[in-house]
Amino acid sequence: MSAASTPHIQPNGAPIAESILLPGDPLRAKFIADTYLDDVVCFNEVRGMLGFTGTYRGEQVSVMGTGMGVPSISIYSYELIHTFGVKNLVRVGSCGAMQTSVDLYDVVIAQAASTDSNYLSQFGCPGTYAPIGSYRLLERTVAAARGADQRFHVGNILSSDIFYNADDTAVDRWARMGILAVEMESAGLYANAAAAGVDALGIFTVSDNLIEGTHTTPEERQTAFTAMMEIALTAVTK
Ligand code: ADE
Repeated sequence: MSAASTPHIQPNGAPIAESILLPGDPLRAKFIADTYLDDVVCFNEVRGMLGFTGTYRGEQVSVMGTGMGVPSISIYSYELIHTFGVKNLVRVGSCGAMQTSVDLYDVVIAQAASTDSNYLSQFGCPGTYAPIGSYRLLERTVAAARGADQRFHVGNILSSDIFYNADDTAVDRWARMGILAVEMESAGLYANAAAAGVDALGIFTVSDNLIEGTHTTPEERQTAFTAMMEIALTAVTK
């Protein structure tokens, strides 16, 4: 039990595990805790950003919402790492595919996260820093995806600040650089983890395809989400 607390995370003595899953939506965090974890305790309710700790196959795991966008996940991941000692941070979410070879419901594992966010400039590198996922978590996630017989892709994604894009050529230009898919958080998570020397990875299910203009249904999204969750939980435990 820790008495530690931050402006955005106040566990009041409840534990936070060294490994945490990070969906954007706090109600998704509650669903994950209720569905996959045993012996669950809630460790955060500040701003409704629910966080829970429980066990998966006997190992302690936490799950917490991050909100949307690089600034939001950067605040929560910074506090989790620096105040609560979290060492493995796995973002679980949905993404929009940017390649025709990436189908709806496929899993995308973010080897790297390109970005249009200015968040990385604070680190002052004299060039363009490339935010990458943890190779250790990446290997474990790939092994879990293979074991689950899940269709998956590993590569560069885009963490964008922009959901409604005024520039309708932007998607094509990122796609031409081989970007697999877009989401809105991983580059901030990866940079925070790298700066602190801990492990982070983003794992996604494809909810829409921006090139083809297709999108998934809520029921089928739930099935794909379940497959991804089992892969993520296997990757952070055992
Ligand atoms: N997450 C899922 N689909 C997305 C999209 N089209 N843009 C950004 N984030 C997403």
